[in-house]
Amino acid sequence: MTDSSTFEPVVVIHGGAWAIPDKLSSASVDGVCSAARTGYDVLRRGGTAVDAVEASVRSMEDCPAFDAGTGSVLNTKGEVEMDSVIMDGRRLQCGSVACVQNIKNPVSLARAVMEKTDHTLLVGKGANEFAEEIGIQTVPTDSLVTDDAREEWLQFMKFKTTVNVLFRSRAEQTALPSTVCDTVGHDTVGAVALDKFGNTAAATSTGGITAKRPGRVGDSPIVGAGAYADNESGAVSTTGHGESITKVCLAREVTHLMETGLAAQVASETALQKMAARVQGSGGVVTVSKDGGIGKHFTTERMAWAWIKEGKLHYGLECGENFVINL
Ligand code: GLY
Repeated sequence: MTDSSTFEPVVVIHGGAWAIPDKLSSASVDGVCSAARTGYDVLRRGGTAVDAVEASVRSMEDCPAFDAGTGSVLNTKGEVEMDSVIMDGRRLQCGSVACVQNIKNPVSLARAVMEKTDHTLLVGKGANEFAEEIGIQTVPTDSLVTDDAREEWLQFMKFKTTVNVLFRSRAEQTALPSTVCDTVGHDTVGAVALDKFGNTAAATSTGGITAKRPGRVGDSPIVGAGAYADNESGAVSTTGHGESITKVCLAREVTHLMETGLAAQVASETALQKMAARVQGSGGVVTVSKDGGIGKHFTTERMAWAWIKEGKLHYGLECGENFVINL
């Protein structure tokens, strides 16, 4: 809806679903709460859902605790290659970038693809050339790489595995040397929103998975996998094992289930159950339905999440947690 009808604004955030270690838990929770406040401020001032999800995701791209923008993990060559998507539920407009380098906020480049080109996805060199053309500043790779990301890369290269293992349970990880799981990486950030006009939007951004093959593109920039938004159903951002998420088009699966009448939470749980059953993949989603229903669910050990509606901030990390703060 794009008229002046008033909906209660909602923003829902995730900071990645994986086996988040204790040493990163408070930074992850603080980061998602701050991103929720940033997006909600935009909505409260009358901004659109697209403005809100972009602002929320930018705040997490700037936070080194997350695998997106600053804090992105490294591929086997020790390079940063980032993926991002944004989608506007009004007319299904979307923009994505994949394998981009030296960009501080890939989500804003994805938005520029959506708004300033005739295309939906730009990759690698072409995406970076487009950034230069429209004046999006490039930054040195070193400014995006944290000590943790470098240390984790060294561990994963040494033991010749990828961060895939972190989507498994702690029990399954015990076969690995403890240093691998103690220095661990991260996974993906995302936001969904409903604005006061009834418009939905979703955005997702990631550095991918540690020790990925150069050129590997995960689920995050793929419309329908990493995110989806449609005012006729709702908006979804996903996180988790990218190859699994892509196979089941996880975000579109959730919106499809909402179209059949399922509530946002039930649709989120059902889609993740399907991904586990069909491709043995784990991950998480955040969802808002067209009428402001909220969904968040994960099948990994932990996922930092936060949402704001009616002036209340809800957040958590572990299954079953729901802390509430009155704003
Ligand atoms: N979910 C992020 C990735 O696999 O790249």
